[in-house]
Amino acid sequence: MKVVGMPDVAIRERARLGVEAAFPPTEEYGGTVFGQRYGAAPVDQIDSMRLVPPVFVPDRVSKLVELGREPLHADVALRTSLGGFQSSLPLYVSAFGSTQVSGGDIGVAVARQAGRLGVPMVIGENIVPTYGHYGRVDPGTESLLLRRIRAYLEEATGDCGGVVVQQSTEDADMEVWNTIYSDPTAAALLSTGRLGFELKVGQGAKPGLGGITLVDQEAAARLDGVYRIEDHSNDMRHLLRYSSPGTFTSEILRMQIRLMRNNFPRAQVWVKLHPGRDIREAAAAAWDAGADAVTVDGAEAGSGWAPYAMLEHVGLPLAECLRRIGQPEGCLLASGRMWEGSRLVKCLALGARAVGLGRAALIAVDEDPHAGLERLVKCLELEVRLLVSALGKYELHRVGPEDVWWPAERGPRPHDSTGKTCVSGGDGRAGSGPTAASDSVRPGG
Ligand SMILES: Cc1cc2nc3c(=O)[nH]c(=O)nc-3n(C[C@H](O)[C@H](O)[C@H](O)COP(=O)(O)O)c2cc1C
Repeated sequence: MKVVGMPDVAIRERARLGVEAAFPPTEEYGGTVFGQRYGAAPVDQIDSMRLVPPVFVPDRVSKLVELGREPLHADVALRTSLGGFQSSLPLYVSAFGSTQVSGGDIGVAVARQAGRLGVPMVIGENIVPTYGHYGRVDPGTESLLLRRIRAYLEEATGDCGGVVVQQSTEDADMEVWNTIYSDPTAAALLSTGRLGFELKVGQGAKPGLGGITLVDQEAAARLDGVYRIEDHSNDMRHLLRYSSPGTFTSEILRMQIRLMRNNFPRAQVWVKLHPGRDIREAAAAAWDAGADAVTVDGAEAGSGWAPYAMLEHVGLPLAECLRRIGQPEGCLLASGRMWEGSRLVKCLALGARAVGLGRAALIAVDEDPHAGLERLVKCLELEVRLLVSALGKYELHRVGPEDVWWPAERGPRPHDSTGKTCVSGGDGRAGSGPTAASDSVRPGG
């Protein structure tokens, strides 16, 4: 598998070595001296921010008293609740749909390891219409969707994790959510509150468009009429399959969420937003209507197929989305080029409850289908513990905007317009942050 826009070599190294890859190679110890790499330019705004541990650490004093000894990074509590689930880490696996690269065994291997790790996993859209069936009756024709649910369940032994399934307009015509809600395989998820449905409003790699994939002639003939099929290729073998983007206003979004709540009362409701200029209003509408989680997928996020014009020029970077949202009114999830601990902790500081692994999860499993993702995550876990403890904190919700320094002049202000530190938001987060009403979170502010 080839990857664009991610540090492929470093991710593969983590998938092979696990926590060892959080440090320089051990053979360099004693013969090399280390410092910030010279000339390594940050790739985006999140990379260019820095985590800034304070000198005075009152939370460490409280932890010291609680433990009766000096606290260490191992004392950072990472288990969290996100989107209605318990998760062993502030992490979930992002949606992979019908795209070829995540199909077949790679998607199933991701599911197995996500289950073992106890982190939620999203399953993407258009799988059932593309394959033509869900495959409940005949195990020989199980769809990838069902295989992934089964694989996840086989490995998820504790009370952590959950499976969230998307449904595009075309999936809806085949009643994908209804099918899963009544499927005996998914009953184990449903009965333990570990099934969710995600309303995909958009994604970062192609904001404002629906899913786009390539299909062969045979699939194109079968899907013609369900999707828009166009032939732009010169090889006559690959045709483009366009899914519709869906049509939303604030009222339609609220109505859809209420419908999901009403029709599937035992499932968690997630909403995935593309990095649109009205991201703050959209996220607020989703939480207000009762969404258990709102995912913001930044413009740097990955995809199985998208036009260059979209990848290079469209959508707000993740940092700007988080800045515009400010103090979240509910559970906020963030995705876009996640693969190591510092990006994760910066996103927590900017209001996210957890981050999603997209391409990094696929690369890790491509490197080692048996344990690549688990090793990558173990490495990231150690980094998160080290970073959060360096901030003098031992609970994730204590990490806040005061813990990051933005080199750009448009960063959030640590105090609201009255000059007082902001109080916790509706999701119980402590720390300070920009208020939704403050100028600093307004577009162009
Ligand atoms: C192969 C592949 C397939 C994807 N399929 C979907 C999908 O069906 N639905 C969706 O909302 N996002 C899809 N995405 C986007 C991911 O869910 C996620 O938002 C993105 O990969 C996060 O960025 P990252 O790759 O930088 O981690 C896909 C991404 C990839 C790489």
